[in-house]
Amino acid sequence: MPSIAPYSVAILLGLGSMLPLAAAAKGIDKEPFGQLADGTAIDRYRLTNANGMEVEFITYGGTVTAIRTPDRNGKLANVVLGFAKLEDYEAKNPYFGSIVGRYANRIANARFDLEGVTYQLVANNGPNALHGGEVGFDKRVWTAKETASPDGLAVVLSYRSLDGEEGYPGNLDVQVTYTLTDADEFRIDYQATTDKPTVVNLTSHSYFNLAGEGSGSIEGHELMLNASAYTPVDATLIPTGTLDKVAGTPFDFTQPTLLGARLRDGHEQLVRGQGYDHNFVLDKPAPGAMSLAARVHEPTSGRMMEIYTTEPGIQLYTGNFLDGTLLGPAGKTYRQGDGFCLETQHFPDSPNKPSFPSTLLKPGETFRSTTMHRFSVDKT
Ligand code: GLA
Repeated sequence: MPSIAPYSVAILLGLGSMLPLAAAAKGIDKEPFGQLADGTAIDRYRLTNANGMEVEFITYGGTVTAIRTPDRNGKLANVVLGFAKLEDYEAKNPYFGSIVGRYANRIANARFDLEGVTYQLVANNGPNALHGGEVGFDKRVWTAKETASPDGLAVVLSYRSLDGEEGYPGNLDVQVTYTLTDADEFRIDYQATTDKPTVVNLTSHSYFNLAGEGSGSIEGHELMLNASAYTPVDATLIPTGTLDKVAGTPFDFTQPTLLGARLRDGHEQLVRGQGYDHNFVLDKPAPGAMSLAARVHEPTSGRMMEIYTTEPGIQLYTGNFLDGTLLGPAGKTYRQGDGFCLETQHFPDSPNKPSFPSTLLKPGETFRSTTMHRFSVDKT
């Protein structure tokens, strides 16, 4: 079992002379993070690895509230957007750090057919269902439990989504395990079972800024996506159904390219998304294989992040709807393009697209999915 260590132990470690910030002791720390409007108490967990890297999350939405990683000089910064207070997460969170489900991204016309039955979902994004509906997994309270893991510090979050919740069939038992390793890897393992046929698509919705949250535009980040195709969308951001080659378009990130390099191109898809808000089709050695999906490099800090996943797709979203009205924990406003998301997933609207990889889950089966974020720097 991981050890539980109070923060104060950190300053006793004697690392202060080597590191710009006092490193906290390795372990799992838990503290109250306030109460929801209905009085429900919410906890915040902090995982600290042997290098002092930290991952923080709360039981509301399983929301990742901070990921602190060193830059090339060893200085820690929080590389995900968020809020200082629980009330902001409850009132106005645009999925910062959220667990998203039961179905991440959009389902067209908030409707799908399964085994001869039409299911009507809650439409919360024009005519479509987005990110699980009005009260998706991001707005649910999860039960957290420390768990033994050979790989690092781990906490498993559990939630039972009831039959009919937001229109989805079947009681769905979901477990999401957050693990922080001493190799500076933050891994997310998803698992779900159902008692009726249903659809499942789970993701994690952190908005990253590897220069540190609140430090402005992400246009200077270099992105490599291991994807030679993407799923273009209609005017309501529903995939048209085709897999289009990225070659020769602003969607070609097969070689490292600045996020901002083509963001203002008049490409019809970028106009529709108000930037990138698209699912990329990952090139994989085999379906379901854990493979490199993305590599991001931020040249001023030297921070790098690699994402590995078992999922077939990844949504690149360049924070297009951030409008300067939300304030981060450092007291800076978030404007359009101040964070980017790389949401590993099955393709949007798969329940209505028989040619896409299936999101069907049947009783007796176990849904499993893993995504790993590996943090490093370009120099030591
Ligand atoms: C996803 C969607 C976007 C938007 C964000 C959250 O990336 O594709 O359209 O809803 O989540 O604001």
